[in-house]
Amino acid sequence: MKIKVNLSNLPAITNDLYYPLYFNDDRYLILYGGAGSGKSVFAAQKCLFRIVSEGYHRILVIRKVGRTLRNSSFSLIRDMLSTWGLSKIAIINRSEMSITFPELRSQILFLGIDDPEKLKSISGITSIWVEEATELSSDDWTQVDLRLRGKTKNYKQIILTFNPVSANHWIKKRFFDSQIKSKIVQSTYKDNRFIDSEYKQVLEHLKDEDEEYYKIYARGEWGTHGNFIYSNWTILKDVPDMDEIIYGLDFGYNNPSACLKIGIKDGEYYIFDEIYRTHLTNSDLIELLKPFAGKGTIYADSAEPNRIEEIQRAGFNIFPADKDVKDGIDFVKRQKLLVDPKCANTLKEIEGYKWKQDKDGNSLDEPVKFADHAMDAMRYAIYTHSKGANSEIVLKKYEVNYEDY
Ligand SMILES: Nc1ncnc2c1ncn2[C@@H]1O[C@H](COP(=O)(O)OP(=O)(O)OP(=O)(O)O)[C@@H](O)[C@H]1O
Ligand SMILES: [Mg+2]
Repeated sequence: MKIKVNLSNLPAITNDLYYPLYFNDDRYLILYGGAGSGKSVFAAQKCLFRIVSEGYHRILVIRKVGRTLRNSSFSLIRDMLSTWGLSKIAIINRSEMSITFPELRSQILFLGIDDPEKLKSISGITSIWVEEATELSSDDWTQVDLRLRGKTKNYKQIILTFNPVSANHWIKKRFFDSQIKSKIVQSTYKDNRFIDSEYKQVLEHLKDEDEEYYKIYARGEWGTHGNFIYSNWTILKDVPDMDEIIYGLDFGYNNPSACLKIGIKDGEYYIFDEIYRTHLTNSDLIELLKPFAGKGTIYADSAEPNRIEEIQRAGFNIFPADKDVKDGIDFVKRQKLLVDPKCANTLKEIEGYKWKQDKDGNSLDEPVKFADHAMDAMRYAIYTHSKGANSEIVLKKYEVNYEDY
């Protein structure tokens, strides 16, 4: 079967900044910059472009923790197949996380650095995309770089995509402060014509929230990450049988609505599933909650009593959360948290969640209001539940509060 894919609409589906990079053949292609600037989408597009135009590829998509790829790069590339006219000729293996194109003699494999044996066992790699490259240590990078060698039909390239979180990062030293040959492209949301205006506003608003975050996520410049709120968490390896399961819910619309499924076992908290989506109406949310939360106890943002009431009427056990930010965070910080890697959004938030700083760099008592939706949902559930808020007395107190709205 001869494959013919029409590449004439490439400029229409690609941001202008990135278009010339389809044809860049440097060994290292560094795509860094602010949030939502189109880096990941382009890296995915370039993988497909090369498979379609060159063939004979075995491209590796790498992230620090393999399972986080499922809801990031793997789903991104899968969703792109139809635009590229590849749906019919792609064999998707969900459990292995691979996409094979037999007619194009090509394959994309998705793999974590946390699986070094598998990484070493794969031969014939022709190019690599490292997603969220700042997650990798310098040793991890050495392993990755070593994997791409030997004779290949087409040029070999490693694409790195990341936000410039810290000027002390090894990536800055290796690629920016040395003469190593690479193509470095900086981008911000302004380079992404596909981004929605609400997200642009969120990023512009960072100016008033936190200078450091504005620099990193809006202007795409190297910053100094620090002042993090949570360090009491690890990546969850196995999900045990839980003593109890609770849910935290933060409402959004232009911002994502976030609902976390949190198991409690021997006093430790396991965040093992998430809903995280923008543009959900309350009815959409109710539909998603049915299989997700069932009859479980949900603690939700008490600033939205009408939405809570509607969800309650739909048959859920939903209660208004205690929203005391300071006490809530103090409590959550003292617990042991385990996060399942499939909760990609929760992980991204928890890693970057930090205290606000004033102009002189002094830490304030409130968190930066950016990428904090899963963090709010988590606190609502863990803190409110700890206070025994599903006991009748506390609920009564909240019921009275309904009248005030
Ligand atoms: N070529 C494109 N076609 C359609 N939509 C796009 C395109 N590029 C970007 N987008 C939209 O913009 C959003 C942000 O793009 P992307 O995820 O690639 O940004 P990013 O630079 O990787 O952001 P982050 O730094 O937060 O990871 C995407 O979710 C998608 O909706
Ligand atoms: Mg990205």
